[in-house]
Amino acid sequence: MPRILIEYASAKGSTEGIARKIGECCEQMGVDTKIVSVEQDSDFDGFDAAILGSAVHDRDWLPSARTAVDRLLAGKQVPPVWAFSVSTWGETSTLLAHRLTRRIRATAREPNTVARLRSGSDLRDHRQFAGVVRRGDWPLFGRCVFALMGGKYGDARDWSDIEHWAEGIVANLRNELED
Ligand SMILES: Cc1cc2nc3c(=O)[nH]c(=O)nc-3n(C[C@H](O)[C@H](O)[C@H](O)COP(=O)(O)O)c2cc1C
Repeated sequence: MPRILIEYASAKGSTEGIARKIGECCEQMGVDTKIVSVEQDSDFDGFDAAILGSAVHDRDWLPSARTAVDRLLAGKQVPPVWAFSVSTWGETSTLLAHRLTRRIRATAREPNTVARLRSGSDLRDHRQFAGVVRRGDWPLFGRCVFALMGGKYGDARDWSDIEHWAEGIVANLRNELED
């Protein structure tokens, strides 16, 4: 049975919710899954794959997620990695105006921490998911910028896209372990 470690960094809980949904899907598909916050300093040794996800603040992963990446890359045996970022926009849903989202999808650079993962590990995929923004999350300036971007407060997590991504990871891992 494959073993997967899922680590998440979440400031307000939406990334944690996505990590838990991914974990549920993996378990339903018969994978031995451990889900922890990056703060828990878990050891990556002994896992067939790691799934790392973080909320995006100021276009990069949270500092605690950057530390987790350092820990992963310093390990003796670095497992294959799948990464996800949670922000105002995703591949299939968004909190921003649709036209702006299309432009961002076409031009956005991946977060620096993901680029570091890509160069230092066997990063199999990086997926961008839309998360949650509540009115109280930002000070006035941030709320004004959000309004100018056509932002709508709420929960834009696309659970079926998240499930689909998790199923793909398990299928990929199974094929590989069977070979
Ligand atoms: C201080 C702060 C900075 C943020 N910076 C960005 C950003 O640069 N780009 C973006 O698309 N979303 C940004 N967001 C939106 C968050 O990524 C989004 O709300 C996400 O769902 C947060 O995940 P969490 O609930 O796990 O903390 C920011 C949110 C906060 C509170």
